[in-house]
Amino acid sequence: MANLARIGRTTVPFGQFQKAGETGRPMGTAARNTVPAANARAQPAFGKLCEGFGLQTSDVDLSRPLDAAAWERLSRAFFGGQVLVLRNQRLSAAQFHHFARHFGPPEPHVIDQFHHPDNADILILSNVQRDGRPLGLADAGTYFHSDYSYLDVPARATLLYSIEVPRKGGDTLFANQYAAYDDLSSAMKARIDPLVALHHYGNRDDLDPTSRTVASVLSGEQGRKMQWVRHRVARRHPVTGRTALYAVSGSSFGIEGMPDDEGRALLDELKQHATQEKYRYRFSYGVGDVVVWDNASLLHSATLTDPSDARTLWRITVKETGPKPPH
Ligand code: SIN
Repeated sequence: MANLARIGRTTVPFGQFQKAGETGRPMGTAARNTVPAANARAQPAFGKLCEGFGLQTSDVDLSRPLDAAAWERLSRAFFGGQVLVLRNQRLSAAQFHHFARHFGPPEPHVIDQFHHPDNADILILSNVQRDGRPLGLADAGTYFHSDYSYLDVPARATLLYSIEVPRKGGDTLFANQYAAYDDLSSAMKARIDPLVALHHYGNRDDLDPTSRTVASVLSGEQGRKMQWVRHRVARRHPVTGRTALYAVSGSSFGIEGMPDDEGRALLDELKQHATQEKYRYRFSYGVGDVVVWDNASLLHSATLTDPSDARTLWRITVKETGPKPPH
C-alpha cells in the first residue's frame, strides 16, 4: 500500500500522520493522548452532513474498542442518518475490519485481485499504479447503484476508509431512497408496491467493457459466479421497517412478469425520479474519514477523477442479516 497519507490536500509520510481537526488544521498528538478510555466522549456529538440525511462525528476513535453502549449509539446514528462519517481515524487493516464486523458479516468482493494482502474482506479502491501495475480497483461504481444488490442477500453497509484524497474531486454521491419513495404519488406506489425487479451484476446503462462507467469488469471465472436475483422495487428496510425505492438504477435490468421494454421504461422513470438533485448529497473526503452508508435506503455513485490524481480508499461491505424482506 501507499506509504503516504494526506491531511486535507497535503501529503505527509504515514509515520508523521497527525489527526486533522474539523478545520483541516493538524491536531497535536498530545491532544490525542489525553483521551482516557475507549472513546473521547461518553456521548459523541453528531453533526448533520446536510439537511436531509447524514451524520458526522469527530468524537469516536475506532482504533479503540467500542463498548455495548457506544456501539448502540453508533448503530442508532447509522440507521437514523443513513450515512455516518467518523472523522480523523488512523486504523490498521485489523482495526478497520473489527469495526466493520459490528454492522454484519463482511463479504469479500468478487473482484479478488484487489483484496488487501492482510485481509481479503478489504477491497482496495485506488487509481494509483506502481511499476505499471494498478494497486487497486479504479473507477469502481461510477453510476448510481446499491452495493451487492446483485446478490440474493445484499449489502447492509459499506464502509470506506480514506487513505489518499485527490487534489480535486474524488467525492461520493448519495441519494435518499426513503424520500424518493415517500414523494411518489399514491397511484405510483400502488403500481410498484407489488413489483419485483430482476437484478444481475452490472450497470444496465453501460455495458461497454472499455467505458469508465461500466460496472468493474469481471474475469470469466468471476462472471460465472453471478446469477439473476429478485428484489422488491419498493423494499421494506429489514431493520427500520420503512419502505425505500431499492436499486432502481445499476443492477436492475427488468421487472418480473413485464415485457422487457416496459420493465426497463418503468425502471428508467423511477431512476430519473430517485436520483434528482433534491435527494442527493455529495460527500468530500478528508484523509482518515471512515464513511459508512446504508445500502437499503440509499443509492450511491463514485465520481470520475483524474487518473493521475491519487485516490485510495479501503472498502469493506457487510451483508444483511436476519429475516429477509418479502420478495
Ligand atoms: C463504491 O461504489 O463502493 C465506491 C464509491 C467511491 O469510490 O466513491
